[in-house]
This record gives sequence, C-alpha cells and structure tokens, in this order.
Amino acid sequence: MKLITDVAAMQAESKRARCAGHRLALVPTMGSLHDGHLQLVRRAREVADHVTVSIFVNPTQFAPGEDYDRYPRDLDGDMGRLAEAGGADVVYAPPPLAMYQDGSSGLAWVTVERLTEHLCGPYRAGHFNGVTTIVSKLFNACQPDAAVFGLKDAQQFFVLRRMVRDLDFGIEMVGVDTVREEDGLAMSSRNRYLSGAARDQAIALSRSVFGAREAILSGRVDADGVRALMREPFSKAPLAEVEYAEVVDGELLQPVGQFRAGQTVIAAVAARIDGARLIDNAIVEVPSWVG
Ligand code: PAF
Repeated sequence: MKLITDVAAMQAESKRARCAGHRLALVPTMGSLHDGHLQLVRRAREVADHVTVSIFVNPTQFAPGEDYDRYPRDLDGDMGRLAEAGGADVVYAPPPLAMYQDGSSGLAWVTVERLTEHLCGPYRAGHFNGVTTIVSKLFNACQPDAAVFGLKDAQQFFVLRRMVRDLDFGIEMVGVDTVREEDGLAMSSRNRYLSGAARDQAIALSRSVFGAREAILSGRVDADGVRALMREPFSKAPLAEVEYAEVVDGELLQPVGQFRAGQTVIAAVAARIDGARLIDNAIVEVPSWVG
C-alpha cells in the first residue's frame, strides 16, 4: 500500500493509474477503521481495480463543542487493519495543513439544499457543508470513477449523491449496507466512547429502526404512528437522549405524512448516550399492496 499525504502526489498517482487503464474507486473515511469500513473497501474492490482509502478527520464537519479533538486517530492501526483485510492500493492521509493551507477552512464551500433541512441538519450546524466540501476536495485529489460510502450515514449518502448529480461530477456513487454488531448495534467509530450500561442501552437505536421497518413492511401507513413506535425502545434506555426519530422520503429527505405504495422512505434516529452521539436508520420500500 502506498501512503500519500499531499494533494499533488495523489493527483499524479490517480493520473498514472488511469493512464495505465485502471478503474479507480475511493473510500473516504475519517480513520479509526472497523469492520464496517473494511466492508466498504471490499465493495470498492468489486467495482474498481485501483482502490484508494482516504483517512482525514475533517475539522469543518464538526460543529463547535463536538468531538473533533477526541475523535480517535490511529494511522498505524488503520494501515494494519487495512493490510489484514487485503489492503488498498493507496492510503491517502493528508495532514490538516495539506487540506486547509491557511490552517482553517477555505473560502469556497459546496452546499446541498433541501436534503440537509431535517434529520441531522438542524442538530449539527454546518456539518453537511463541511462534508460536501471535503468530499469534493477528496474527489478532486483522488479523481475516482466510483466512490463507496456506508449507508449508516444515509443522509450523508443521499446528500453526496445529489451533489454528484447536480454538479456533474461523473462519479458512480455506491452505498453499502450497515454492518452491525451481533446484538444489532450499527458499527461506528464512536461506539468506542461507550462502555457498560451505555453500551447495553445503545441497542435502543437499532431496535427503533428495525421496529419502524417491520411496521412499514406490515402495511402501516401513518408516519406519526411509526415515529411514536420508534421512540418506544428508548423507554428502556434511560441514559439515552433522543434527538430525533423521524421518517422522511428517499428523494428530498422531507418528513412523510402517509406512506404511498412503492415509495422509498428512511426511518432514522439519533440519540446521545453518555456523551456519544449515535445514529441509525432503515431504508424501506413501502409494499406495493399498501394504500
Ligand atoms: O463518513 C465519514 O467518515 C465522513 O463524513 C467522510 C465522508 C469521510 C467525510 O469526511
């Protein structure tokens, strides 16, 4: 695996690989790699024959007071984990100053409207502008044909897919299903903040979205009823503070009233447990016989 830390060298590597006839995939990450990330790398190998994993803890997507400073960073550990899982062709791990030369964010931002109005948007000021901007920068450095993202961050995936479509990036966007612990908890780098009772109670999130999925697939059409159902598992999780338990459409991510047959909806939840902010979701197609 080549380790590249500056933008020009990354662009040169991508150009070289493309000229050699390779199809390029990028897996953008913030490091602290777990099995969920390794699944993204395996998927990238299926859609391309030159895989870059980027590792960059992006300061501009953390709102003030969030966990930017304590976010786990372990490049050596990440390289080791990647190597064990078959590796990547390139690990692109620029230091903050290579990405933001004057030490803070640049003056240019990429914004996606509408899709950022609900779910995490209102709770994380500036978060999605930080994500869309850094992913645009990673795309410019790595020049991928395809980019692979986890669907645990479903809103992030839909926002980025819309960015790629509206700004003509010409990149295939590949979403990969959430990888879960045995008890259902979605894998996340932030799970390592959890211990003891907080870890046990964190399964309320997956129970919440699994419950929503079951209700929708069994023909329930009132979204408010499903929202109420999604809060029930938290009655057994006193350490958890729910930020939202919401059902939105799969197009503009706006809250849904009644479900329509064939519609794709996303049941999504966010909660803070013992200082960790966790999210989960289920992407569900409303059965064709509903209505
Ligand atoms: O999902 C993440 O890890 C980050 O939001 C991403 C896409 C790497 C951008 O920093």
